Amino acid sequence: MSPQPPRCCSAPARSPPTPCPSRPSSRSPATRSPWASPPATRSPTPSCSGPRLAPEPLAADGLGGMPQEPVKVRWQVAEDPLFRKVVKAGTVTATPNFGHSVHPEVWGLRPGRDYWYRFMAAGEVSQTGHTRTAPAYGSPLARMSFAFASCALYSHGFYTAYRHLADEDVDVVFHLGDYLYESGVTAENNWRRTTVDPSLAGETLDLARYRQQYGLYKSDPDLMAAHQSHAFVVAPDDHEIENNWADEVPEERSQSQGALWMPRRTAAFQAYYEHLPFRASSLPDGPDMQIYRNLRYGDLVDFNVLDTRQYRDDQAYGDGSDPASPELTPDIYDPSRSMMGLEQEAWLQRNWRQSTARWQVLANQAPMAETDLDETEAKTLYMDPWDGYIANRNRLLEGARTSGIENLVVITGDRHHNYASNLMADYDDPESAVVGSEFVGTSIASGGDGADMTTGGESLLLANDHLKFFNSQRGYVRVRVTPDELSSDFRVVPYVERRGAPISTRATYVVENGRPGVQLDTQNAAVGTKYADVPMPTLNR
Ligand SMILES: [Fe+2]
Repeated sequence: MSPQPPRCCSAPARSPPTPCPSRPSSRSPATRSPWASPPATRSPTPSCSGPRLAPEPLAADGLGGMPQEPVKVRWQVAEDPLFRKVVKAGTVTATPNFGHSVHPEVWGLRPGRDYWYRFMAAGEVSQTGHTRTAPAYGSPLARMSFAFASCALYSHGFYTAYRHLADEDVDVVFHLGDYLYESGVTAENNWRRTTVDPSLAGETLDLARYRQQYGLYKSDPDLMAAHQSHAFVVAPDDHEIENNWADEVPEERSQSQGALWMPRRTAAFQAYYEHLPFRASSLPDGPDMQIYRNLRYGDLVDFNVLDTRQYRDDQAYGDGSDPASPELTPDIYDPSRSMMGLEQEAWLQRNWRQSTARWQVLANQAPMAETDLDETEAKTLYMDPWDGYIANRNRLLEGARTSGIENLVVITGDRHHNYASNLMADYDDPESAVVGSEFVGTSIASGGDGADMTTGGESLLLANDHLKFFNSQRGYVRVRVTPDELSSDFRVVPYVERRGAPISTRATYVVENGRPGVQLDTQNAAVGTKYADVPMPTLNR
């Protein structure tokens, strides 16, 4: 009997299988290979989200050096890297209106298996990529592993962490946002000090420029190595479009005010879809894109991937950081404001009520645990992350409790720091219960080299009892899950402004089954040796 297709990626609206493979080529972007700018990605489900044909990925017209005509692309999925046993194959048409990208969906692969994939077009064969399907929904699962990453500002450093991520033995990678930034590469911000085409100095404002930016980012061999090794599940934060946008409201300093905003959002989502692995259910509809979705790994873990940008109310009080209390900042306590939108909130609660998995992991963008910036009794909070939407946060955590969720773990990007935090039912109540755990992963490159501890980090640890760990080096987080515990390794590199940094585990924090809250794994606790007086980053950069 052939197994059922894994149900690890059911989208909330339509629910097809997911995309997986796509791949790049080893050729440089300057060559004429049709795979030169290729998106490479896969998802853990049995389908394929293909590459973009772009022999000239940095072409200023955004066409990637392709003619204005459709191109047939063949794809293959095999049980071995040499393609001796091809188990699925097909042909899709890459069309100019989606930048000659393809997103084939493959059904009927076996659950919990390794597969290899490749694409063929115009007489060229792409490199081979690897993916691993999810175990069948509800099946007994003794362990799984994943990694999560975020914030890869190209100009701030090399993607050494992505290279190390490629070598990890994990089932799937979650990318939690800021995969790409809207800012151009200039002499001032190019901390890589490599030569970048002057046409990439300006901000991404239209489709051609967003495509060009993906061409730049995907020209990096370390990023492509990570894609080739692992299935990626991606969700955008803000910079895939622009800093701190909120639904139909651009940032105050945006170059795309008024009637310029929604066309820019439309262009950014189209380019995002073209270059990353999404099913047809996420095909953008103008400025809208279905991003929140659910993935299931056997009976062990349910992942709910959030979208905290598209449906949120505008940030309160001018979107900075403010002294906060119900009297000073009533808007952030206003139950009518939401960071997720009411429909997504209801979707999440429904998933939780129906789930029987041991662990619930929420793939999230901006930090959920409170970040008090004031060491005194008073509070100062950022308005962009969950601290600016306290009623929504409390509602979400209360919903987990009423749904019987015992093991809630939130994984987060955005902050460019590593945190391990307890999630509290109410941060304004000192007697409040610990109701979950949050691991915030640092950036891949944003912020440059970073440091183990900073003055800002010391202050945060003093001001926030629930914050148990801080680090500000670059890297990613590797997570191992069993029925008994969920264990997060903070993997860091000592520098990114030069190539070739080694990777190490800075600390490991564990959550035990049935016991919310993070605990230091003392057997794996490294002692930090670096210190630098690095200021807190500009919010959400
Ligand atoms: Fe970021």
